[in-house]
Amino acid sequence: MEPDEICWQALIRDVPDFPKPGIVFKDITPMLANGPAFSAVISQMAERVGPDVDAIVGVESRGFIFGAALAFKLGLGLVTVRKPGKLPADIHSVEYELEYGVDRLEIHRDALSRGHKVVIVDDLLATGGTAAATVELVRKLGADVESCLFAIELAFLDGRGALEDVRVESLLSFK
Ligand code: PRP
Ligand code: ADE
Repeated sequence: MEPDEICWQALIRDVPDFPKPGIVFKDITPMLANGPAFSAVISQMAERVGPDVDAIVGVESRGFIFGAALAFKLGLGLVTVRKPGKLPADIHSVEYELEYGVDRLEIHRDALSRGHKVVIVDDLLATGGTAAATVELVRKLGADVESCLFAIELAFLDGRGALEDVRVESLLSFK
């Protein structure tokens, strides 16, 4: 079966009231556990990556799953943006808001060079706080964001509004 024929979207499960009352959590684990479905998602993401990209930036932790697989498929390196206190060398740090809280993201200061072109990858775009913080971190290093790429977008939370000066791509959008 071709990657485009696999209905991986049916393997995204709604879990109501997780991690807080009122949040409908989009659970990707059934899709990840299905080899052809996961492979189809990565192939479809790879089709959205433009030319001359130098690296994939993956956001902890679900972004690592997609970022690592995509980087491997494209033969590119993976730069990791991590939650606080995980990166051992000199870092830049940015605070951001989530659909369900506040957090902080960090990147190694030497992870990218001025003029490098990157694609920021995550499983899901909700309010856009995580992705906007990641764009800020990448730009602190003088690198350029080719696009932000997501498997899933919760369009009703208008994450694109937080990413106005960036190209945003997603495979599956919930209105
Ligand atoms: C989730 C998801 C995105 C982010 C999207 O990560 O993987 O990174 O939320 O939300 P936003 O667009 O409102 O910022 P989470 O912080 O829950 O961490 P996890 O990947 O470790 O589960
Ligand atoms: N990250 C932020 N909001 C989310 C949601 N509703 N489902 C899964 N991951 C999320």
